This record gives sequence, C-alpha cells and structure tokens, in this order.
Amino acid sequence: MKDILEQLEARRDVARLGGGARRIAAQHAKGKLTARERIELLMDEGSFEEFDMFVTHRCTDFGMESERPAGDGVVTGWGTVNGRMIYVYAQDFTVFGGSLSETQSKKICKIMDMAIQNGAPIVGIADSGGARIQEGVASLAGYAEVFQRNIMASGVVPQISLIMGPCAGGAVYSPAMTDFIFMVKDSSYMFVTGPDVVKTVTNEAVSADELGGSATHTKKSSVADDAFENDVEALAEVRRLIDFLPLNNREKAPVRPFFDDPARLDPSLDTLIPDNPNQPYDMKELVLKIADEGDFFEIQREFAANIITGFVRIEGQTVGVVANQPMVLAGCLDIDSARKAARFVRFCDAFEIPILTLVDVPGFLPGVQQELGGVIKHGAKLLFAYGEATVPKVTVITRKAYGGAYVVMSSKPLRGDFNYAWPTAEVAVMGAKGATEIIYRGKDAGEIARLTQEYEDRFANPFVAAEKGFIDEVIRPHSTRRRVARAFASLRGKKLMNPWKKHDNIPL
Ligand code: HXC
Repeated sequence: MKDILEQLEARRDVARLGGGARRIAAQHAKGKLTARERIELLMDEGSFEEFDMFVTHRCTDFGMESERPAGDGVVTGWGTVNGRMIYVYAQDFTVFGGSLSETQSKKICKIMDMAIQNGAPIVGIADSGGARIQEGVASLAGYAEVFQRNIMASGVVPQISLIMGPCAGGAVYSPAMTDFIFMVKDSSYMFVTGPDVVKTVTNEAVSADELGGSATHTKKSSVADDAFENDVEALAEVRRLIDFLPLNNREKAPVRPFFDDPARLDPSLDTLIPDNPNQPYDMKELVLKIADEGDFFEIQREFAANIITGFVRIEGQTVGVVANQPMVLAGCLDIDSARKAARFVRFCDAFEIPILTLVDVPGFLPGVQQELGGVIKHGAKLLFAYGEATVPKVTVITRKAYGGAYVVMSSKPLRGDFNYAWPTAEVAVMGAKGATEIIYRGKDAGEIARLTQEYEDRFANPFVAAEKGFIDEVIRPHSTRRRVARAFASLRGKKLMNPWKKHDNIPL
C-alpha cells in the first residue's frame, strides 16, 4: 500500500510540473504565473479539487506519441471563492503552449457540463497558442464542443474569462460568448487573425499589442470588460466580482453583511446638480453615495464612458447600476453606450439582479456617423433590453430626461417599478430652446428668448411628468439611498412573466 501511495504522489508531482521547470521559468520570466498558481490565487486556500490530472492526448502524428505530459495543457476542477462553489479551467502554457487538443477540449467540456448541471459559475483562464497544430481538425472540433457549451451555459451560470496570455484565431470565440472578459496588461492579447496575416491580406502594419492588446479591447473594441496590471490583481478582482453574482439563474445573488445604514442621508447630494444646466457633474459620485460602503465593481470602465455600468450592493443585496455620465458627451446615448448598457441590462435580467437606473440624458447623440453606424438598431438594443427585463427596476432622474432617451432609460411605461425624480429633473421632449424654435419658427430672437423661458418654466421640472403619473414621486436628493433601498426592499417578492416564446429577436 505504501508503495502505491508513493507512486501516486510521484505521479502527481510530475503532473504538477506541467511542461517542466525550464518552461515554468520561461513563463515566470514573462511576468506570468502558471496555471496552477493562478488557480491557487483564484480559489479559497486549499479548496481546489482537480479533475483529470492524468489525462494525456491520443495523437500519434508528428512523433507526438513519445510526448504525453499528464494533464495535456489544461488544469481543470472546482473549488470555492469565499465559500461559494465555482468551476475553473486554466490553460497551461508550459505544455504544448496550452494549445487545445481533443482531450484538452474533453477536460474543459467535462467541467462545463458539471457547472451547468450543478449550477455554479465557470471561470476560464486562457493562455494558449490556439488549436493543437499536430491534431488538425480534431482540435477544431474540440473548440466547437467548448463553444456549444458556452452557448448552453449562457444565462444559466455566470461565465467569466480571464485572458492571461495569447488567445488567437477561432479560440477567441469562447471568451467572446462568456459574460465577462478580463485581460492582463502587457501579457495578454486577443485577435482573430494576427499581425502577420493582417499585413499579408490588407497590407496594414500593426503590432500584436495594437491589434489585440488590453488597451485596444478595453478602450476601442469593447471586447474586454477591464484590464489589470498583473495576474495577481486580475485574479483578486475576479474574486471580488464573483461575490456580487448569483451562482446560477435559479438562485439569488448572495446577501452580504453590511455596516452602512440603508437609511443614511447624504446632504452633499442636495448640491450635486450645478446651477447651470449645461455644466457637468460626476454621476459616479451619486453611484458611490448610494452604494453600501461606496463599493462599486465597474464593468467597461474605459469604453463608452458616457454611460456607467457596474454592480453595487444596497442593504447587502447586489444591484446592477446603469447611469448616464454628464461628464462625457454630456451623457448622450450613442451607439457604443447603448450596446454597452444593453448587454449589461440583459446580464442582470438573466441572473435576477435588480437594476438601478440613474438618468441625466439630453438625448441621442446627433450626427451622420451615428446614423450611418446604425444608431437606430443599436439604440433599440437598450430599449429592448429594458423593456423585456422582469427584474425589479428603480429609476432616479437627476436632471435631463429628454425625448427618446428618456423613454429608453427605464421609463415608467417600460415597466419601471419605481420612477423617482429629483426636483432638478427636466422631463421633456427636448431642451427648451430647441423646442421653442420648432414650435415658434419665424419669430424674432427676443420673442424666442421669452417663449423659451415660458417653455422652461412649464416643462423644465419633474412636475408635469409627476402630474401624469410617469414619475411616482419627486424625492429629495439627500434621501436617495434611503428611497432606493426601500424601493428595492418592497420589490423582493416581484413576479413578472413575459409571454411564452422560443426566444426573442433583439435587434442585434
Ligand atoms: C502545438 C504549440 C502551439 C500550437 C505553441 N505551441 N502553439 N504546439 N500547437 N498551436 C508550442 C510551441 O511549439 C512551443 O513548444 C511552446 O508551445 C511554446 O511556444 P513558443 O512559440 O516557444 O512561445 P512564444 O514564443 O511565447 O509564442 C507563443 C505563440 C506561438 C505566439 C502562441 O507559439 C505561436 O504563434 N503559436 C502558433 C499559433 C497558431 O498559429 N495557432 C493556431 C491558430 S488557429 P516547446 O516544446 O518548444 O515548448 C486556431 C484555430 C482555432 O487556433 C479555431 C477554432 C474554431
């Protein structure tokens, strides 16, 4: 028996070494951790249980039969994050560059199937040279098996991707179908075709970093939701995100102990809105002042900053926040912000996370580029997402809520549960000057100024909307946290079903 135990330990030790000490040193030299080190940091200490440690590939081409490292380039298993179960796979770059073989795919699919069946999030850590070149089509089919599971898991369990090295070719489509993608600055990249192919086909010279580095994907393409300085920070932040999320679509998000009084008043909010209606202010200040302990996990911080999206807790319960940001493009909605917020709203709805919407929106951004870019269809995404959402929806209009953008931002007729407004709110079809110039076309400038003032006096307030019941209550800014907390508390038993359908046809 002792011998067998020693044999087991010896085999485990070899498996844990992956591609060997030299390749591990090369990985460290690039500032990257190994697959096992990453999993250790992601999971609660000692909680990780590995699957398929001894699996090897079955390829016999190109002399592969002589090299069969245990684990085949991916570490898979389950464990806990702050006591809550998750499944994980981490590609091991030290074994055949983490490339995906038929058996590596089977290992990943096994834990994905278990995650879907048992209702726990999947974290995938990508660090791979793509399809295992020696295996050809078997490897491509392996990717397809993973993709199919990404699709089946979507909306069932949260899926989080961490890109911690290369992720290129068709391989990018697995993370692309997960809920969140995080990258590591300087050591990760994602592209469908690399710089060499781009140069050959389009004659464009571009570096790997420009084409698919973290700055590209967090600021320009919006493929990634955020990027972190190094592996350690990225893994710590993913732990923080997991704490906000439910394990699956049948469970509620966890309730965390809170030390921040839900009835806390904040007098500074009474002066948040500047006297000049065209002067910006930082909407993030309001988000942080509503949140328990000012704790906010922002999604897509660096993309379409005219809208803010992310998670807070109110009375210990997770709430998704969508807020116009007057500091950027005056808080206008445009193609990028509508896409960004729509995806976020749909995530929240899929996982029963209530949504708080903070509104200060002067309208959709006008312009040829926007129209030609399809702002009609992209704007409709957000409208559709809010309208189909059945989770509790609480809205606070702080200042402008004009035109179509007012309607889109979780307005009452889109089944808003609580639609509050600050006394500084202006709910109207458009700004007073524009409106007056249309209604009184041809009048002289003096007359227009007088009529603009008249229009402003009539509509630049929340009371016309409140008189008609589109605003449920005009609230004092300093009591926003208390009002919002009570609103969500009253909605904990909310039940709302959409008509049966196979699935909707959101304008993609
Ligand atoms: C087999 C691979 C591999 C692969 C890397 N390796 N990629 N083995 N299949 N796809 C092996 C290398 O042979 C090497 O083995 C080890 O991994 C480390 O690779 P290096 O090249 O030394 O590392 P580095 O210099 O850091 O470069 C990393 C890299 C490069 C940029 C990823 O390896 C590379 O370009 N690989 C090929 C990428 C590729 O074309 N993949 C196919 C894409 S198509 P040793 O033994 O020396 O350590 C695709 C289609 C998917 O993925 C479609 C899905 C639908």
